[in-house]
Amino acid sequence: MAAPTPVPVFLDCDPGIDDAIALAYLIAHPGLRLVGIGTVSGNTSAEEAARNTLGLLAAAGIDDVPVAVGAHDFLARPFDGVAARVHGGDGVGGVAGSLPEPLRPAEPGVTAAELLVRLGREHEGELRVLAIGPLTNLALALRADASLARRVYSLTVMGGAVDAPGNVSLVAEANFRNDPVAAAEVLTADWAVTLVPLDVTMSHTFDEDHRRRLLDAGGALPRLLGEMLDTYLGFYADHYGDRRCALHDPLAAAIVGGDVPNPVWRHGVFDVVSDDGPDHGRVVELEDDGTALRTGAVMATDDPVADVLLERILARRWA
Ligand code: RIB
Ligand code: CA
Repeated sequence: MAAPTPVPVFLDCDPGIDDAIALAYLIAHPGLRLVGIGTVSGNTSAEEAARNTLGLLAAAGIDDVPVAVGAHDFLARPFDGVAARVHGGDGVGGVAGSLPEPLRPAEPGVTAAELLVRLGREHEGELRVLAIGPLTNLALALRADASLARRVYSLTVMGGAVDAPGNVSLVAEANFRNDPVAAAEVLTADWAVTLVPLDVTMSHTFDEDHRRRLLDAGGALPRLLGEMLDTYLGFYADHYGDRRCALHDPLAAAIVGGDVPNPVWRHGVFDVVSDDGPDHGRVVELEDDGTALRTGAVMATDDPVADVLLERILARRWA
């Protein structure tokens, strides 16, 4: 029986160590085909995120995926610097200097939002959009072409905290707090969003065993992931009490890849607070009067995802 035709995926990201793991998973998944990548400021600048993305693709020997640099600043405020404590000063745990030269440049004269709008039309009804950074590029794409919301097959967003505590304030998660205006515009647009919040992502982790298996796997990209994980495990050690790290973006990617079969859903109409008060960046649930498309938040999943993720990555023969 022939393998199913891989489905097209657009990734908007801010690599970022967990973004890099998500990217490796998307590359390795035989049922998914990356057709474009946009970068956005968040863990690092959109420009450095693009350099990191191009280097990671080169490490995998991939030269046919367009990468477009997206928004440097957020919709309502400037980008204010790298999350060095979490992802290292270069955004990828200090391995940027070990990344190979890109096999292609970033798309000249094309923004991430423009690339997304174009691909939404080229892959009408089929494009799986996965957003794992601040949502600035997606909001700009919707502002440029509101029909995008109806052209894509699905939108999966890593961001927010519904009932769980935030990770950059008591109530706000990093991607949504970086650009709450964009997050609100995306969540309230005319598409059914799958939201992957901290409520579920903090329960899925890699540890030193996963890191060792990546380092021993052979191939440039798994080794680079293993090297950058040293920084990420170190950051989360205080939170978890041992050296393990949260799989925020890889879990969202695994949901797109169909590797999270039994999620616990919470469906509702959600918005994001963008005022300058203590709730800045907070996800809030609105009254559901039946007029808006509901967001499906994945609040939990019984299935451990870390080993499934790793086995997908290790199943590929890497350059
Ligand atoms: O809060 C976690 C999110 O913020 C992840 O996407 C991580 O990469 C950072 O962008
Ligand atoms: Ca990210």
